[in-house]
Amino acid sequence: MSGSWAANARTVSAAPQTFAEPHYTNASDRRVFLNASQNENGNTSTLAKNLFGNLTYKQVNLASYNIPQVGQGDGDFSKVWDQLKDADVIVIGTPVYWSNMSGYLKTFIDHLQINNDLTNRDLYMIVQGSDSDQTLAINSVYGTMNRVAIRFNMNFIGIGQTTEQINQLHNKMIGSAPSIPATPSEPTVPTTPTNPTTPSEPNTPSNPTTPSVPSTPSTPDSWTITDKKGVGTINYQPGYGVNVWNAPGGTFTGQRLQHNTSWKVFQMATNAEGKFFYSVGKDQWVDGQYFSFGVGNGMEELDGIVTIKYIPGYGVNLWKGPNATSGCYESRSLKDGSEWKTFGKQNGFYKIGENQWVQGDYVIYRDK
Ligand SMILES: Cc1cc2nc3c(=O)[nH]c(=O)nc-3n(C[C@H](O)[C@H](O)[C@H](O)COP(=O)(O)O)c2cc1C
Repeated sequence: MSGSWAANARTVSAAPQTFAEPHYTNASDRRVFLNASQNENGNTSTLAKNLFGNLTYKQVNLASYNIPQVGQGDGDFSKVWDQLKDADVIVIGTPVYWSNMSGYLKTFIDHLQINNDLTNRDLYMIVQGSDSDQTLAINSVYGTMNRVAIRFNMNFIGIGQTTEQINQLHNKMIGSAPSIPATPSEPTVPTTPTNPTTPSEPNTPSNPTTPSVPSTPSTPDSWTITDKKGVGTINYQPGYGVNVWNAPGGTFTGQRLQHNTSWKVFQMATNAEGKFFYSVGKDQWVDGQYFSFGVGNGMEELDGIVTIKYIPGYGVNLWKGPNATSGCYESRSLKDGSEWKTFGKQNGFYKIGENQWVQGDYVIYRDK
């Protein structure tokens, strides 16, 4: 089928979601991926591979079993259950079928009995669809799976649909995600690029005259610190911030930098384990895995401002990538005459935020 599965459908808002913290982070090798796709090696299982990363897991494909509708016998239900019941970490992946989980998964769930023991298992969901907006599917899947998780005393850790969300869930699984403030749901609209005329995006996160934390790196000898000048962008999750540490691997300062905000970088710290941090101010470090420094993909790094030069009263497209095939945000355009900070130029497009680009033909650039 080509085109959108949601053609002519009304848009919906994201329902509030709450999740738990994982019990099993790296301590367990008992991980199962329950694949509710008709394809053993399709898009859903690719997302699962990304979620597990280097961790070992067993894949169980529901499509390889015959589980009839409830009321028509149990079929192979116990063959699947027997492979699931001893897992500590359960990842369930479903393709989106008509804005919901697949029938494979719903039928499997319908067979669960109250005495099926899943207490304390960590539950991760993967939802894989082809449309750009999966809000309705996520609402539906969350509603059912949250109900299941509560009934069976499972820890529902999260739902991953985008690469970014899958990466976040991976970090949760290995126990390296920063703590995040409780926010009920993610915004459904793209993050607004920061306008340089509003003070929401300072270049130094705190006032240097008020040092808020002592600067005592916990393991100063294990880090190699080098000068690294440029600009980087927090790459975490819309609506959430990333912890700022007083030193690489040091102590949490209590401050967080919001997703998609950009900061001047002064130094980089690396250690023998391949971990890395960037300094964004005095005694202020962010974990490199949540920070995109410049872009290592051919982007010319800039620290400047672009002014939109189009037709008075009209706006130009805001693109998701540095080319006109990347797709543009339907509900966003950049008004003629408005000014935006830019961090780089690639392929004739200027980057003004994470996944936010404007075509160079319609701007005037100046250094800051
Ligand atoms: C019966 C059917 C219904 C589908 N409905 C939707 C839908 O409502 N929304 C959507 O985004 N994708 C829909 N898709 C597309 C699949 O979710 C998408 O191709 C997915 O990546 C398939 O995953 P797989 O490779 O693991 O099978 C549908 C596919 C099928 C076969």
